[in-house]
Amino acid sequence: MALNVVIMAAGKGTRMHSATPKVLHRLAGRPLLQHVLDRVAPLAARFGEVHAVVVTGHGAERVEALVGEHARCVRQEPQRGTGHAVQMTVPALDDAADTTLILNGDVPLIGTDTAAALAAACGGQRLALLTVTLDDPTGYGRIVRAGTAHAGDPVQAIVEHKDASTEQRAIREVYTGMMAAPTAALKRWVMALTDDNAQREYYLTDIVAMAVAEGVPVVASPAADETEVLGVNSPAQLADLERRLQRRLAGQLMDAGLRLADPARFDLRGTLAHGRDCEIDVNCVLEGEVRLGEGVRIGANCVIRHAHIADGAVIHPFTHIEGAGPGTQAVQVGAGALVGPFARLRPGAVLGDEVHIGNFVEVKNATLARGAKANHLAYLGDASVGERVNYGAGSITANYDGANKHRTVIEADVHVGSNCVLVAPVTLGAGATIGGGSTIAKDAPAGQLTVARAKQVSLPGWQRPRKKG
Ligand code: UD1
Ligand code: CA
Repeated sequence: MALNVVIMAAGKGTRMHSATPKVLHRLAGRPLLQHVLDRVAPLAARFGEVHAVVVTGHGAERVEALVGEHARCVRQEPQRGTGHAVQMTVPALDDAADTTLILNGDVPLIGTDTAAALAAACGGQRLALLTVTLDDPTGYGRIVRAGTAHAGDPVQAIVEHKDASTEQRAIREVYTGMMAAPTAALKRWVMALTDDNAQREYYLTDIVAMAVAEGVPVVASPAADETEVLGVNSPAQLADLERRLQRRLAGQLMDAGLRLADPARFDLRGTLAHGRDCEIDVNCVLEGEVRLGEGVRIGANCVIRHAHIADGAVIHPFTHIEGAGPGTQAVQVGAGALVGPFARLRPGAVLGDEVHIGNFVEVKNATLARGAKANHLAYLGDASVGERVNYGAGSITANYDGANKHRTVIEADVHVGSNCVLVAPVTLGAGATIGGGSTIAKDAPAGQLTVARAKQVSLPGWQRPRKKG
């Protein structure tokens, strides 16, 4: 068994007013088309094999780069309507797959179950249309039924809004743009389409009347909910869909025990795994792969990307965490660590248990062992920091000589005073104390006080200059 899946993605998306092809605009951090591909992939488990064909046109190179190995791409140039789009796929459709499912690259939340049900309703024999009843059907193709247009009456045709009569425009049952058709008949039907209509386009929807004329049963398969069939044509629709999806994601996370201060002010643009008793305050944006242990608290207005935050850690408000990628590339925050407010953890930041990173502290490519603290206004880049180190306010690692990066090693129990410059490569031995205001360009021995600053002098009898005459 196998299933053909056509994903139409050649349209321009005029109303987006964007240089980016419409299907590459992002929803919850991922391109619209990526959502569709991700929802199609699991169909293989039910239909054996999925032969997916993406129709590209506007911005074809960029769209094809996204599709990569996930599907075949066929070009449609110029774009002369949805029927024309499917014509382009005819040579690519596998005849051994008796059903062809047609989806839209700009309808990202189509449920895998709904798509499977639509394909099953076709079963290689019937033309199955995914429909929905809308309060405002303006712009959509209307489902025209025989008789008095009761839900049970047989479907006769789809009439596009622009071609519909006043009576037909009153019909609220609409075509969602998705259907499943017997493959052989579909090929024949789309090749027979004409552009004799208001938009001078080849309407895929005209195949409904062809099926009816041939006595092929046409069935309307209702969508599970409105959200899964909503398309994106404008920035406003994209934002609306984003909110709907975020509310759904927030609901799923709360069902699993996550405490969100306000599900309407939460944005997940990746994946979030969490243990028990985690709390996230308002206006946080989570991107990439974020993992929280148990009892993690995240304050308001944090942006967190690719991070693993262990049990009991607290991320105070306005903190920005930015890991380089998932897995081992993620920023690590140890159990019981305190970070922020206004802290910045950049790629390669690895904080051990009970580490404290305070306000206006930046950590990049640096490892801090258990109990190390940098509480105020500091920079730690390309550094290894030992256990219980105390790193003073205003101190920085000067890790970059203009050409290369160098490491700073701060061994356990070192105390770095305020406003120090550690000129890397440099090592501060265990238990060393660095006097405030020192510029340290040579290794500091363990257990000693090292001071590198001009000696303080006082001039007896010195007088302030006075204004002349
Ligand atoms: C289409 C349906 C309409 C339905 C509506 C649902 C037709 C003729 N009409 O209308 O009945 O209610 O969807 O949203 O099918 N595309 C191409 N090549 C083209 C034209 C479109 O690939 O030449 C793609 C678009 O990128 C988009 C999809 O097909 O993903 C639908 O195109 P769109 O122009 O939005 O269809 P509508 O005219 O809105
Ligand atoms: Ca259109």
